[in-house]
Amino acid sequence: DAVELGQYRHYMQKEIFEQPQALANTLEIIAGGGSVTPQLFGTRAPELLGGVERVLVLACGTSYHAGLVARYWIEAIAKLPCSVEIASEYRYRESVAHPGTLVVVISQSGETADTLAALKHAKAQGMQRTLAICNVPESAIVREAALRFITRAGPEIGVASTKAFTTQLAALALLTLSLAKLAGRLPEADEARYLTALRHLPVAVKKVLELEPEIERWAQRFAGKQHALFLGRGQHWPIAMEGALKLKEISYIHAEAYAAGELKHGPLALVDKEMPVIAVAPADELLEKLKSNLQEVRARGGELYVFADAGSEIHESEGVHILHMPEHYGMLSPVLHVVPLQLLSYHAALVKGTDVDKPRNLAKSVTVE
Ligand code: AGP
Repeated sequence: DAVELGQYRHYMQKEIFEQPQALANTLEIIAGGGSVTPQLFGTRAPELLGGVERVLVLACGTSYHAGLVARYWIEAIAKLPCSVEIASEYRYRESVAHPGTLVVVISQSGETADTLAALKHAKAQGMQRTLAICNVPESAIVREAALRFITRAGPEIGVASTKAFTTQLAALALLTLSLAKLAGRLPEADEARYLTALRHLPVAVKKVLELEPEIERWAQRFAGKQHALFLGRGQHWPIAMEGALKLKEISYIHAEAYAAGELKHGPLALVDKEMPVIAVAPADELLEKLKSNLQEVRARGGELYVFADAGSEIHESEGVHILHMPEHYGMLSPVLHVVPLQLLSYHAALVKGTDVDKPRNLAKSVTVE
C-alpha cells in the first residue's frame, strides 16, 4: 500500500488528486483537433443515437448524482427531455416505456446489482437504445448495454467515489454534445467553445486542488458538528447532494442537501448556530436568488461556508466564510465545484479519525440488492 499511496495518506486523497489526469485520459479523444462524434460511444452509435427523442438515466449513489447534473445539460443543450431515476426504484415501479428513449446507465464498477437489473428491466420494456457509462470495460453492465463509453479514471479503491464521478461528468458532457449535434442543435461556434472548455478542464481542476490547505482549516471547524446542510441551485443542486453524501459516508456527520429555494418550505426550521451550512455559489444566473436564501440562513444564526468565485460578490463577515474558486466555468462548473466538497469531507473524516477508505457498513461495489 505504502508504495501505491506514494505521498498520500489514503486512497481517497490520492484519487481526488488524480482527477486532472483521470479527466485528461477520459477526454483524450477530443484532445488536439478531435471533435464530438457519435462514434465515441461505439460502432452502433450513429444508428442508435440518431433520432433519440428522450433520455432516461438510471444509476445509484454518486453515479446517480452525475445523472442529475447531466439532466440540466441534456435539456438545455440537446433540448431533449431527460429523466433521472434511482435504479433500485425504477426497476420495481410500473413505468411507461417509450421506444425513442436512450437509456443511459452510469456506474463506476459496472457491477452494481440494482443498476444492472434496471438496465435489464428497461430492455424488457422494449427500450433497446442503451448506453453504459462505466469505469470497468469488461463489467456486467457494459456487456449488457448496446453502447458504451469507458471513463478512464483508473482503478478507484476508496469506497467514496471521487475521480469516477468527475470523469462520468466529462463523459456525460460529451454525450450531451453528441446528442445536440445529431439533432442539429449544436452550432459550430458553440461546439468549439464547449470543446475548448472541456480541454481546459484538467488544468482548471488542478487549480481547485490548490485550495486544500484552506479547506482543511474549514474541516477543522466543523468536524465536531452533528449535522450539516448543503445548498445549491440549478446544476449545482446535485453537487450539493454529492457533497452531503460524501460527508455522511466517510465522516458519519449527518448531512442533507437542499435546492436552496426549498429552504423556507421546511429545512430552515433546522437552522441555528450549531448548523454549518455549505453553499455552492458560483456567479451564474441563479446567484441573486441563492444570496437571498443565504441571508435567510444567516438571519437564523446559521454559520455559512460559501464556495464562490470572483464574480459572486459575497463577502466575508461574521459567520460567513468564503472560499474563492479560481475560475468561473459555465456549464462545466459542477465538475469544479464538487472537488472542494470531496476535500472537505476527506479532511473532516481525518479530524474525526474514521476509516476513510473503508467506511463502516459500506462496500465499494454493491452487488446485492
Ligand atoms: C459513493 O461515494 C458511493 N460509495 C456509492 O454511492 C456509489 O456511487 C454507488 O454504490 C454506485 O456505484 P457504481 O457507480 O459502482 O454503480
